[in-house]
Amino acid sequence: MASFGCCCFALLMVSLLLGSQPATAQLQDQPTMVALQRELMVADWELNSTSYCFWRGVTCGGPNQAVEALDLPRRNLRGNISLISELMSLKRLDLSGNSFHGSIPSSLGNLAMLKFLDLSMNKFENRIPSSLGKIRDLISLNLSNNFLSGEIPDELKNLERLQELQISGNNLTGSIPDWVGNLTDLRVVSAYENSLVGVIPRNLGSVSQLEVVNLHSNLLEGAIPESIFKSGKLQVLVLTVNRLNGSLPKSLGNCKGLSSLRIGNNQLAGSIPASIGNVSSLTYFEADNNNLSGEIVPEFAQCLNLTLLNLASNGFTGTIPERLGELKNLQEFIVSDNSLTGDFPKSILRCRNLSKLDLSDNRFNGSLPEDLCSMSRLQFLLLDHNSISGEIPGGIGNCGRLLELQMGSNYLTGNIPPEIGKIKNLQIALNLSFNHLRGRLPQELGRLDKLVSLDVSNNQLSGGIPSELKGMLSLIEVNFSNNQLAGPIPIFGPFQKSPRSSFSGNKDLCGDPLESNCGDYFGSADGSDRHRVSYKIVLAVVGSGLAVFVAVSVIVGLFMLRERQEMDAKAVVVAGEVVVTPPQIAAGNVFIESLMQAIDFDSAVKATLKDSNKLSSGTFSTVYKAVMPSGLVLSVKKLKSVDRSVVHHQNKMIRELERLGNLCHANLMRPIGYVIYEDVALLLHHHMPNGTLAQLLHDTTGTGFDSNWPRRLSIAVGVAEGLAFLHHIAIIHLDISSGNIFLDADFNALIGEIEISKLLDPSKGTASISAVAGSFGYIPPEYAYTMQVTVPGNVYSFGVVLLEILTSRLPVDEIFGEGIDLVKWVHSASGRGETPEQIMDARLSTVSFAWRKQMLAVLKVAMLCTDSTPAKRPKMKKVLEMLLEVKEN
Ligand SMILES: *[C@@H]1O[C@H](CO)[C@@H](O)[C@H](O)[C@H]1NC(C)=O
Ligand SMILES: *[C@@H]1O[C@H](CO)[C@@H](O)[C@H](O)[C@H]1NC(C)=O
Ligand SMILES: *[C@@H]1O[C@H](CO)[C@@H](O)[C@H](O)[C@H]1NC(C)=O
Ligand SMILES: *[C@@H]1O[C@H](CO)[C@@H](O)[C@H](O)[C@H]1NC(C)=O
Ligand SMILES: *[C@@H]1O[C@H](CO)[C@@H](O)[C@H](O)[C@H]1NC(C)=O
Ligand SMILES: *[C@@H]1O[C@H](CO)[C@@H](O)[C@H](O)[C@H]1NC(C)=O
Ligand SMILES: *[C@@H]1O[C@H](CO)[C@@H](O)[C@H](O)[C@H]1NC(C)=O
Ligand SMILES: *[C@@H]1O[C@H](CO)[C@@H](O)[C@H](O)[C@H]1NC(C)=O
Ligand SMILES: *[C@@H]1O[C@H](CO)[C@@H](O)[C@H](O)[C@H]1NC(C)=O
Repeated sequence: MASFGCCCFALLMVSLLLGSQPATAQLQDQPTMVALQRELMVADWELNSTSYCFWRGVTCGGPNQAVEALDLPRRNLRGNISLISELMSLKRLDLSGNSFHGSIPSSLGNLAMLKFLDLSMNKFENRIPSSLGKIRDLISLNLSNNFLSGEIPDELKNLERLQELQISGNNLTGSIPDWVGNLTDLRVVSAYENSLVGVIPRNLGSVSQLEVVNLHSNLLEGAIPESIFKSGKLQVLVLTVNRLNGSLPKSLGNCKGLSSLRIGNNQLAGSIPASIGNVSSLTYFEADNNNLSGEIVPEFAQCLNLTLLNLASNGFTGTIPERLGELKNLQEFIVSDNSLTGDFPKSILRCRNLSKLDLSDNRFNGSLPEDLCSMSRLQFLLLDHNSISGEIPGGIGNCGRLLELQMGSNYLTGNIPPEIGKIKNLQIALNLSFNHLRGRLPQELGRLDKLVSLDVSNNQLSGGIPSELKGMLSLIEVNFSNNQLAGPIPIFGPFQKSPRSSFSGNKDLCGDPLESNCGDYFGSADGSDRHRVSYKIVLAVVGSGLAVFVAVSVIVGLFMLRERQEMDAKAVVVAGEVVVTPPQIAAGNVFIESLMQAIDFDSAVKATLKDSNKLSSGTFSTVYKAVMPSGLVLSVKKLKSVDRSVVHHQNKMIRELERLGNLCHANLMRPIGYVIYEDVALLLHHHMPNGTLAQLLHDTTGTGFDSNWPRRLSIAVGVAEGLAFLHHIAIIHLDISSGNIFLDADFNALIGEIEISKLLDPSKGTASISAVAGSFGYIPPEYAYTMQVTVPGNVYSFGVVLLEILTSRLPVDEIFGEGIDLVKWVHSASGRGETPEQIMDARLSTVSFAWRKQMLAVLKVAMLCTDSTPAKRPKMKKVLEMLLEVKEN
C-alpha cells in the first residue's frame, strides 16, 4: 500500500518520531498479535515492536497485559480476522468501516468476555454465525451495512443482556424472531433495509424500555404492536416502506419523548389517535401513502416542536383545524392527495417558519387571502388540483423566497397579477394552467430569470406574448397552449426549441415553432435574423440559474442546512472573538497529530495572499500552493463567497470538517486541517503533485498526451471506490467532475471537494432540503427539474468522467454540434452509424486487443451510468464491481 492518501502519511511521520521503548514483562497475547499484525498488515503496528499494548487501537489490561479492546474503525483493513478469536480477554471489538469480506468467523463466538461487537460497514457476506449466541455478556451487536443474508439465527436469543441490536443494510430474510421481544434490556433495534417478512413481534417492547426502533424498507406486514409504546421511553420509530396494516395504537400517547414517528408507505388504516397531542416532543410525523382516514386531529397543535407533518396520499376528510396555526416550528405541512375540504386554511399561514405548504389534490375551495405572503418564509406553495376560486392576490409578490408555485387546475379568475414578477427566486416551476384566467400576460413575468418551467396553458389569456419574456433566461419548459393568445411568438431559444404543442390551441399565434408564419406581422417569415440561441448560451444560462442557487445553498448552505437538520441540537456557541486587523487567525486546527509541528498557519494564510501561488480556481474555491517552513507542501483551499454569517456558524463548520477529516479512505481527499481568519475559511490538504484528472486528460500544454490506458482504468476504479464509499456512508457529492479528481504521486485518484457535499439521510424523504450543483456537462438532465442532488445524479456525473477517460474529450465542446454534449454525442453515435472506434480515443484503443476489449467494456458501464432515466442507472457499488471485473480480466 504505497498510497499517499489518508493515514499513511501520518504513519510515516510517526515512524520518524519514534524512539526506543522499555521492555514489558508479561505479554499473554504476543504470538496472536504478531500474527494478526501480519495478517491484517496494520501498517503502524510494525513500528512499536516492543509491546502490542502501545499499538494504536489496542487496549491492554490485567496482570498479563491481555488485549481487552481492539478499536480499528475506518483503517482500510482487509484480511482474515479469525485470529482475533484467540484474544480471549477481549471485551470490545470495533472493526467497522473496513474492507473485510467473506463469512464472519464463527470462532468469534468463543470470545466469552465480549460486550461490544461492531463489524458494521464492511463486506461480510453469508449468514450471521449462530455461534454469536454464545457470547452471553454481549451488550451491543452491530452488523449493519454488510452483505449478510439468510435468517436471523435463533441462537441469538441467548444474548439476554443485549441492549443494542443493529443489523440494517444487509440482505437478511425470514422474520424478526419473537424472542427479540423477550430481551429485557433491549433499547435499540435497527434492522432497516433488509428483506425481512412476517409481522413485527407482538411482544416487542413489552418487557424492555425501547428507545429506537427502525425497521424501514422491509416487507413487514400485520399491525404495529401496541407493546412498542408500552414503556413510554420510545424516541424514534421508523417503519416506512413496509406492508403494515391495522391502525396506529392509541397508546402512542404514552411516549412523551417520541420525536420522530415515520410510518409512511404502508397500508395503515383508521384515524390518527387524539393521544398524539400528548407526544410533546414530536418533531417529525410522516404518515404519507397509507389508507388513513378521518379528520386531521387538532391535538397536533399541542406538539409545539412539530417541524414536519406529512399526511399526503391518504383518505383524510374534513377541514384543517385552525389550531394548527399555533405550530410555530412547523416547516413543512404536506396534506396533498386527500379529500380535505373547506376554505383555504388561512390559519396555517400563522406558522411563521413554514417553508412548504402542500395542499394539492384536495377539495379546498374559497379564495386566496390577500395577505397570503405576509412575513412568509414559504419556498413551496402547492395548491394545484383543488376548487380554489377568486383572483390570485397581488400579495403573492411578497412571497420573496418562493421556489415553486403550483396553482393549476383550480377555478381562479381575473388577471395574472404583475406582482408575480417580484418573486425573483422562483425557479422550479410556475404553473397556473387549467384555470379561468383572462387578460394579458404581464410583461413582469420576464423578470423571473431563474424560472425553469412556466405553464399558463388552458386559460382564457389574450393579447400577445410580451417580448419581455425573453428575460426568462433559465427557461426550459413552456406551455402557452389553449388560450386566446395572438401575434408573433418572440424569437427566443427556449420558445423555438419547444414543441408546437406548447403554443397550439391559440388560433392567432404565429411563427416558429408553429407552422403558421407571421406574414401579416412581418415582411419575411424565415431568414438570417432568426438565429437560434447557441447551446453554449443555453448551457451557461441553465448553469447560471443553478449557480445562483448554488451560491446561496452550498457554502452557506453546507452549514446552514446542517443547522436546520440539526435543529434539535443545542444552540451555537460562537468560538473566539474575531479580530479584524491584519489577518489575525481566529481559529485553526490540524487533525493529524503527527503533522501539527510541520504546519504553520501564518504561512498558509500568507500563501493565499500571493497570486503566483494560485493552482486552480473552481466553482466553490480557489486553491493555492503553500510551502511550510518545515518543507511540507500543502494545498490551501480558500472558500469563495463565504458569508459573514459562516463565522457565526464556526463551531458547526469545524465539527463538519473534523468529521470529514476522520474519513479514512484511500480515494478521498480529506481535509487535514483548517484556518479561519476574519470571514475567510482556509482548508488544508496534502499537495497533489500530479494535479487533476482533467489536466491529465485535457491539458496538452503539460506533459503531453497520456497514453497509459491501465493507469486511466485504475483511476476510474479508484474514483468508483471513493464514490461508492461516500454513498455507503450517505454522503452525496455535489460536484463530481474530472477537475475535482486529484492524482497523488503514484497517480492514485482522490476525490476532492467532499467538504462541500452535505450529508443527507436518504431515508428522510420529504424532510430533506433540495439543492443543486455541479459543473457544466456533468449535470444530470433531471436536476434542472427536481433541484435535488441525488445518488443517481452522482452516478451520471461519474459516467461523464468515464466517457472523458475513454474519449479524451471534454464534457462540453462545440465540435459535438449545437446543443449536444459528450453524453448525447456518445449516446447518438450508433444512430449516426458510427462504431465505438470513432468514439473512443483511437490512440489508446488501437494499441492492443486487450486494451480495446477493456475500453469497450468500460464504455458499456459509462452508457449505463449516463442513462437519462435516473432509476435505470446502476448503484456505485455495482459500477465498481463491473469496473473491477473489467480490470481483472
Ligand atoms: C509507540 O509507543 C510509544 C510508547 O513507547 C507511544 O508513545 C506511541 O504513541 C506509540 N506509537 C504508536 C503508533 O502506537
Ligand atoms: C481464516 O483462517 C482460518 C484459520 O486459519 C481458516 O479456517 C479460514 O478458512 C480462513 N477464512 C478465510 C475466509 O480465508
Ligand atoms: C454500531 O452500533 C453501535 C450500537 O448501537 C453503535 O454504538 C456504533 O456507533 C455503531 N457503529 C457505527 C459504525 O455506526
Ligand atoms: C438478496 O437475496 C436474494 C435472495 O436470497 C437474492 O436474490 C438477491 O440478489 C440478494 N440481493 C443482494 C443485493 O445481494
Ligand atoms: C418469551 O417469554 C415468554 C414469557 O416468559 C415465554 O412464554 C415465551 O415462550 C418466550 N418466547 C420465546 C420465543 O422465547
Ligand atoms: C393485515 O394483513 C394480514 C396479512 O398480511 C391479514 O391477515 C389481516 O387480515 C390484515 N388486517 C387488516 C386489519 O387488514
Ligand atoms: C394525555 O395525558 C393526560 C395525562 O398525562 C391524560 O389525562 C389524557 O387522557 C391523555 N390524553 C390523551 C388524548 O391520551
Ligand atoms: C422542543 O425542542 C427544544 C429545542 O430542541 C427542546 O429544548 C425542548 O425540550 C423540546 N420540547 C419538548 C417538549 O420536547
Ligand atoms: C382504504 O379504506 C377504505 C375505507 O376507509 C376502504 O374502503 C378501502 O378498501 C381501503 N383501501 C385499501 C387499499 O386498503
